[in-house]
Order: sequence, then C-alpha cells, then structure tokens
Amino acid sequence: MSADNLLEMVLTVPLSKITQDYPFCKDFFLNLRILDVDWELPLEQALGKTNEEAITDFGLDKGMILRDFCQFLETFGNNSGKNVDIKSLTITGGHDKSGSGEIAQWTASVGEIISIVGPTGSGKSRLLADIECLADGDTPTGRKILVDGRRLTDNERFEMDGRLVAQLSQNMNFVMDLTVKDFLEMHAGSRFSKDVSGTIDRCFDCANELAGERFSRDTKLTQLSGGQSRALMIADTAYMSSSPIVLIDEIENAGIDRRRAISILARKEKIVFISTHDPLLALSADKRIVIKNGGVSKIIETSTEEKGCLDSIEKLDATLFRLRNSLRQGQEIKMETVKDQEN
Ligand SMILES: Nc1ncnc2c1ncn2[C@@H]1O[C@H](COP(=O)(O)OP(=O)(O)O)[C@@H](O)[C@H]1O
Ligand SMILES: [Mg+2]
Repeated sequence: MSADNLLEMVLTVPLSKITQDYPFCKDFFLNLRILDVDWELPLEQALGKTNEEAITDFGLDKGMILRDFCQFLETFGNNSGKNVDIKSLTITGGHDKSGSGEIAQWTASVGEIISIVGPTGSGKSRLLADIECLADGDTPTGRKILVDGRRLTDNERFEMDGRLVAQLSQNMNFVMDLTVKDFLEMHAGSRFSKDVSGTIDRCFDCANELAGERFSRDTKLTQLSGGQSRALMIADTAYMSSSPIVLIDEIENAGIDRRRAISILARKEKIVFISTHDPLLALSADKRIVIKNGGVSKIIETSTEEKGCLDSIEKLDATLFRLRNSLRQGQEIKMETVKDQEN
C-alpha cells in the first residue's frame, strides 16, 4: 500500500480491523508497552484515551506514534497473497520544469538495472515517485506509466497497491526494540514465506556479506550502523519481497558492497531503478537515465568500455573508503594508504 493510503487507513480504520489484516501489528503496541488501547477506535482516537504517561515515558508523543505506526506497517506490510507478474514498465514522457517535452517513451524490462543520474534537484526522486504511484498524467511531470504496455484500470491499480513496488527504505528509525532475528522472523512471518527459517538464514547471511562490519542475530536494530541497516534492507528486499519493481533512492556512502548489492537484487528477476551520484552504481546498471531540469534528456546504454572501468573505480573507491576511515579514527595519513591500492 502506498504511504498516503496507509496513513488514510491508520487515521480512519479501527485498530481491531487493522489487526485482522496485519496480525503482527499487535507487536508494535507490545513493544511500546501500550496495552490498554481501545481496539475499536482508529489509532489517533484510541491514543486520545490512553494513559498519557505511558506514552511520554518513551519520550514519544502521539504524532510520533502515528508516524511510526505507518512506517511499521509499511515495513512489515502484508505483501503476500497473489504475486504480481509483470514483464515491463513503459514510461511515456511528460514535460520538464519549463514545460518542454522530454524523451517520448522508453521501456524497462524485468531483469534490468536502470540508474538515474542528474544534478541535485533535477528530478531523480520525482521520477522514482512517478513510478511508485504509477503516474497517469496526474503528477507535476505529466508522465504516464504503462505496465506491460498498457494503462491499468483504477481497479487494477488498487489491486496491485503495495505489491508492485518495493521502495528500499532509507532507514529503519522507527522506535522499535527488536533484534535482527526478531525483525527477520516477523517480516518472514507476515509475508507467508514458505521456507521461513531458510529464508531468514539466507537473508541474514546476505546482509552480513554486504555490510563491511559483521553483526549478529541478537544485535538490536537500533544498534546497527547506517551501512549495516542498509545491508539488511537490501537483503530483505531481495529475499522477502515479491514485488517485481525495486526503487532505490541514493544509497551511496553506506559502507556496503554496492556492486554486489545491485547484482543480488537484479538476480531476483526484478526491475531495479536506482537514483545515484555514485559512478560505481551508475555504471553497474544496464543503462542510465539522464535527468535535466525535471525531464529525461538522454538514455545511455552502459558500454563495454564503461563496464571495463568498474574494477578500477572499485579500487579507487576502496582507497577513498580507507582514507575516510583513517581520518575518522584520528590517524595520520601515510603515502602507503593512498598508494598501496594502486597495484
Ligand atoms: N518535470 C517536472 N516538473 C515540475 N516539477 C518537477 C519536475 N521534475 C521534478 N520536479 C520537482 O523538482 C523538485 C526537485 O526534484 P527531485 O526529484 O527532488 O530532485 P533530485 O532527486 O534529483 O534531487 C521537486 O520538488 C520535484 O517535484
Ligand atoms: Mg532526490
């Protein structure tokens, strides 16, 4: 379900009804030790009747709980049920910020990785948002997104809501006292994955491979570093989500093996869109969409020459990574730190 629809549901639907569709959401309240809620009311009204102190004890207010609950449902959302099978997305061009037309039409097929590049403010996130909401001429860009070459009916859009697109979360900073193991178990459970324990193992191993520094199953989510939680989200998207489309908005500087991450996601027969300023990510893609002033101005297929640059770029990147770490740890920089990566 899209973030807007989730919020509307949370504001209007009684909690008892939400827990029917999302049984695991009781854990959210257990976790906050809010046990005396009136399940027959929507969350906001129910919070109005709970003991104010129980909430402030956690350093929270009602607005934060509303927001966290939406984020919780989004993360653990029920994207089980029928899998959505699609082969391609076609983007019919709209207009840039000055109203001039952009590239008329282009198609992305399952198995493809597509990077989106362009200056800050040029409209990369906007393109991802257009894809997420399956724009139908109803966004500031006027784009239309076709699935398998055709417009979806309102009914089909509604049916697919939440199952077509996985948005890789930027962070998992909702207030939850979960360990990595709890998180994976809950997530697998909420999605009726068949081989639950196998999926959890694969997901955990993959996240650990992607993260530079290792973490254990008993690590609390709140203790994960930025890189570790990003790695966990990527593994989670690859192994637990059946959504055929994955959107990633700028994951650089996360201290993870990005080339690996991208290839793991792509192996799962998805269409991966990734907005980035990172040469390593941009060139790992099959093609890149260049955004200028809000419009798609160019589409470049990654050439063999460009692919051939990846190994050298990775070495440069590793050197810079080491330098940053040395600086952070207050060390002095030696010529060897810069040089020894060159051979
Ligand atoms: N074609 C367009 N027409 C009008 N506004 C646009 C268009 N493309 C992007 N914008 C707006 O420009 C702003 C910056 O876009 P954004 O996608 O956040 O840039 P980026 O992610 O590249 O930094 C946003 O408010 C976005 O809605
Ligand atoms: Mg952006």
